[in-house]
Amino acid sequence: MDCVKVGVIGAGYWGPNLIRNFFENPQTSLVGVADLREERLKYIHGTYPQVIATKDYKELLDQGLDAVVIATPTPTHHALAKECLSRGLNVMVEKPITLRSEHAEELIEIADKNGCVLMVGHTFEYNPAVRALKELMKSGDVGEIYYLDTARLNLGLFQGGLNAMWDLAPHDISILLYLMDQDPISVNAFGTACVFKETHDVIYMNLVFPNNLLAHVHVSWLDPCKVRRVTVVGSKKMVVYNDIEALEKIKIYDKGVEAPEYTDTFGDFQFSYRYGDVRIPNIRFTEPLRIEIQHFIDCVRNHTEPQSSGRVGLKVVRILEAAQRSMMNGSHQEML
Ligand SMILES: NC(=O)c1ccc[n+]([C@@H]2O[C@H](COP(=O)([O-])OP(=O)(O)OC[C@H]3O[C@@H](n4cnc5c(N)ncnc54)[C@H](O)[C@@H]3O)[C@@H](O)[C@H]2O)c1
Repeated sequence: MDCVKVGVIGAGYWGPNLIRNFFENPQTSLVGVADLREERLKYIHGTYPQVIATKDYKELLDQGLDAVVIATPTPTHHALAKECLSRGLNVMVEKPITLRSEHAEELIEIADKNGCVLMVGHTFEYNPAVRALKELMKSGDVGEIYYLDTARLNLGLFQGGLNAMWDLAPHDISILLYLMDQDPISVNAFGTACVFKETHDVIYMNLVFPNNLLAHVHVSWLDPCKVRRVTVVGSKKMVVYNDIEALEKIKIYDKGVEAPEYTDTFGDFQFSYRYGDVRIPNIRFTEPLRIEIQHFIDCVRNHTEPQSSGRVGLKVVRILEAAQRSMMNGSHQEML
């Protein structure tokens, strides 16, 4: 396959970023875009006059495509991806892959049966700063990992039909799975629905990984400050990845505390605190979507399983489902 022929369904808020990257990639031919809204089709026609712009995604699927990219609202992912995979098309679907794990399982089954690539748009897995953070953790420089903490907060954007957890936490969960290279054992969540009854806009989630390692995820549509942060605290270093920073996305703090040897008189306790330097590694930044899309194209051309495969998407949905059950059930700890 010289050039991967791609069609994109959904050109709302996120779709245009995908469309631009596919259009710019020399190994792709962007054949067309489907969207239900006239105004979005006008935008596509004005920006990419050579590309088909249609209201009917079925018209797009009849164009001899190799792959389809789905950037429509999450409740529509399952039906659209199922139709594309059933036609033998490779699929990249936005996060979260589906709203129900049975639906994600079904998509994986169809993709396997038809020999199609199924990838989920877990964009942060392709972010050079997240990759650098993983390398740091793997190198042993951070020491034994004590705990992780993530925060994804802002004012809005409220999504019809979904709560803030299903909208925002797929990013943090996929980052945690990627960084830890392990699956969590249990989850609990606590949330509040402030603006709309029954739509949780603020959620606190705890994931327990093997060896009792705790990861806390805070997501909110109702916060005065935009925060996109992952903190990793280890025995040797503490690392903060701040996605809001333009250049200095990762800061490594040589900070820590060592517990004293046991003595029987309290006065003998001497905690040893370390307040060392802060190091800011130079990370060559490339747009994560560009890396993500290249990976999808490589997988389609080489028939390989993507890093953020349908199976990883399914893990994320299972965690979200368990967290949702917990939230509705007095924050009960749900086993995964
Ligand atoms: N990876 C990321 O960082 C990231 C960021 C934002 C959104 N997303 C995901 O992208 C998806 C879309 O989010 P959004 O914010 O762009 O939503 P949006 O509502 O702004 O856009 C969705 C578009 O899909 C169109 N659409 C819906 N059903 C359609 C159909 N059957 N045929 C053709 N067009 C159809 C709508 O007309 C709309 O223009 C969601 O799954 C969301 O979670 C991912």
